Amino acid sequence: MSKIQIRGGNALQGEIRVQGAKNAVLPILAATILTGGQVELFRCPRLKDVEASVRILRALGCEARWEGDTLLVDTTHLTGCTVPDELMRQMRSSAIFLGAILARCGEAELSYPGGCELGPRPIDLHLAGLRELGADIRDSGGILRCTGGHLEGRRLILSIPSVGATENLMLAGCGASGVTVIENAAREPEIGDLQNFLNACGAKVSGAGSSAVTVEGGCKLHGGAYTVMPDRIVTATYLCACAAATGEIFLRETREEHLSTVTALLRRAGCTVSAESGGIRCLSRGRLSAVPPVRTAPYPGFPTDAQAVLMAALLRGRGTTVFEENIFANRYRHVDELARMGADIRVAGRVAVVSGVERLTGAPVRCTDLRGGAALCVAGLQAEGETLVDQTGHIDRGYEDIARDLGALGADMERRE
Ligand code: EPZ
Repeated sequence: MSKIQIRGGNALQGEIRVQGAKNAVLPILAATILTGGQVELFRCPRLKDVEASVRILRALGCEARWEGDTLLVDTTHLTGCTVPDELMRQMRSSAIFLGAILARCGEAELSYPGGCELGPRPIDLHLAGLRELGADIRDSGGILRCTGGHLEGRRLILSIPSVGATENLMLAGCGASGVTVIENAAREPEIGDLQNFLNACGAKVSGAGSSAVTVEGGCKLHGGAYTVMPDRIVTATYLCACAAATGEIFLRETREEHLSTVTALLRRAGCTVSAESGGIRCLSRGRLSAVPPVRTAPYPGFPTDAQAVLMAALLRGRGTTVFEENIFANRYRHVDELARMGADIRVAGRVAVVSGVERLTGAPVRCTDLRGGAALCVAGLQAEGETLVDQTGHIDRGYEDIARDLGALGADMERRE
């Protein structure tokens, strides 16, 4: 497992292009199963979770190969409808394949996705919606044996606006007869990217971004070409890195409207953040100020995925910031590691109280999860001395190469095997 060595104190300077969005491309890769053809995905990020999805596609008999940052997928000759357990366990969001396989094959067999560092990752809403569409799903010993036979579109109501459940039911709806309406759907921008991809391949999906997504079933889908949207959480991470380290950076080809709750708080903290010529510019002159309470919520609320990196940026802020994590049960695992660097954070249940300290000291720390690992890097940029981040495989699930990107902006940061 490689480590990342960071020597803090450098201000950041320069510009980089932001990678394609992990949380857009993962459901899109599942959706390629519905096309039964060739798909070209431009700006596809090279991530561990994308490689896990490619392994699942290949296990189903599909073909996939890279050409630069374009992923070519061919699902013409899909030969199977079973996802091996070891592949399901490699990625927390592998359940997203269920709806697509069911819609294409009329049956599917896969195990529950592995447990997750963030706490339980139930899929009860996915299964309830698929059953309402007519799927027969039996769970025996952690293996889900599904027969869809004939899915019938209908009005579905999600008890919570689950991103994955919304996406799974959009894909299943494409294979159902009649119209499926998903009420209380998740509104994340990645849902919009999935809708745009599906429609580019001949589907008729509308309403993404609102609380009601409508899928007209019975459309024959075909292959196509699509450019994945920029990753708004990677964007938020690098903005927080600049806020923490000070300096001025420009993030190319990314869209501020997708992370306006994050940029608003960075402005409150004292940064100058502006959208310009297709990207985002951030200027941080010095010590940040604490900000009003940060409550994570479904989009368009503050994204849970940006909670850890904003927390890391505020560790030396003037004053106290209160965080409230309302999406996942166990998303403060980075706190103990940040405390090793001198952070003052008090956690009680869903609330974390961050009191700004004068200085942080570099230390050996360990990634606990994807965004917690990125937070350790943000903290290391502003710490005195050397920080050695271990278990960086967690970070590689969502960032193509965080050391490459922040190093290109002037951070003293390198990967060590
Ligand atoms: C997606 O996960 C993202 N992952 C997560 O990003 C993100 O944090 C999350 O949405 C919330 O925005 C991908 O898109 C691949 P949910 P997902 O279903 O779909 C509960 C990252 O760091 N729930 O909206 O799993 C669930 O336990 C990752 O990039 C049920 O109870 O999120 C959670 O508490 C982390 N039953 C809440 O809903 C269900 O059937 C939100 O989960 C489904 C979810």
